[in-house]
Amino acid sequence: MALLEYENLSIALPGMARPVLDGIDLTVSAGEVVALVGESGSGKSVTARSALGLFPAGAGIEGQVRVDGTELVGADAAKLRAIRTGTASMIFQDPRAGINPVRRIGDFLTESLRVSNGWSKSRATGRAAELLGSVGLPDPERHLRQYPHELSGGMLQRVMIAGALTAEPRLLLCDEPTTALDVSTQAEIMAILGRLQRERDLGMLLITHDIELAAAACDRIYVMYAGRIVETAPTGRLFATPRHPYTAGLLGSSPPLRAPDGPPARLIPIPGSPMGLLDSAPGCAFAARCRFARPGVCDQSPPPLERHGGALVACHLADESLTSADKSLTREGS
Ligand SMILES: Nc1ncnc2c1ncn2[C@@H]1O[C@H](COP(=O)(O)OP(=O)(O)OP(=O)(O)O)[C@@H](O)[C@H]1O
Ligand SMILES: [Mg+2]
Repeated sequence: MALLEYENLSIALPGMARPVLDGIDLTVSAGEVVALVGESGSGKSVTARSALGLFPAGAGIEGQVRVDGTELVGADAAKLRAIRTGTASMIFQDPRAGINPVRRIGDFLTESLRVSNGWSKSRATGRAAELLGSVGLPDPERHLRQYPHELSGGMLQRVMIAGALTAEPRLLLCDEPTTALDVSTQAEIMAILGRLQRERDLGMLLITHDIELAAAACDRIYVMYAGRIVETAPTGRLFATPRHPYTAGLLGSSPPLRAPDGPPARLIPIPGSPMGLLDSAPGCAFAARCRFARPGVCDQSPPPLERHGGALVACHLADESLTSADKSLTREGS
């Protein structure tokens, strides 16, 4: 049984032309690191929040989301509380948005330990100091007395990671955990998350718009476009043979992490703009931006997610569009 399992999850908001999520199937096993990548507005955060039973107000929900076997769609408050305080935790993009600016770091970290676990103040404070140490904050006792504005963004993101660990989770949902940070701090935070994942054998869903970051950290990658999974494969496979033109476009439009041996890669932007919730298409949602799109095929019906080699791909032309001659599309010059 997967630790996190989405089965045909669809979320629709009233008045919109298309669903926010449309038939999501995704799994994260215990100890597995999985990435979900896609452009802004594709539905990544809605997907992540669903794994804590946080659905948009007023949304129509179909399908299932299970964490450790517990169904979250329609779950009562007690079940959701048990998942959020004992199995799954989340780290968000902007650490300052998730913390009360007028409370000390120590109060933030000890609150859930005292309320959920019924621990005494001194026991909770001791555990909070240990957790701050484990995320690489050198002087935990001092940091526990500080206010959020006294810490840098990178230090505060470490506090948020420590906060997520108070639940002793087995599943960590990381929603763009480094996007608000500078490049060297990003690398530090990713290194801390990687170490904690290995030490604790965490299942991790890493949400990012950066496919290179996903590749560096993850075993498998899901690519999302306009509320649907359009391709999923083990990381090496996805990079070697992207089969969906959108995946190829993402690879071609992001700078490689490692400097290539040859001339610098030329980045190729994906033409057009992502599809909003007020836009819909009878066929493939990516067709309007796809250089391979074929009239009469791609604009007729949404392509199902089907197995092609070692990947699952939702493209009517998955077997023919990205032939070796077209690979130059993915990253010229590398
Ligand atoms: N609670 C909500 N009420 C109404 N619309 C929402 C709500 N949450 C998300 N949306 C809409 O759903 C779509 C997907 O949002 P989501 O935040 O999941 O995108 P994302 O992929 O995380 O984007 P980004 O990379 O910018 O964070 C967006 O069009 C967003 O405006
Ligand atoms: Mg988001």
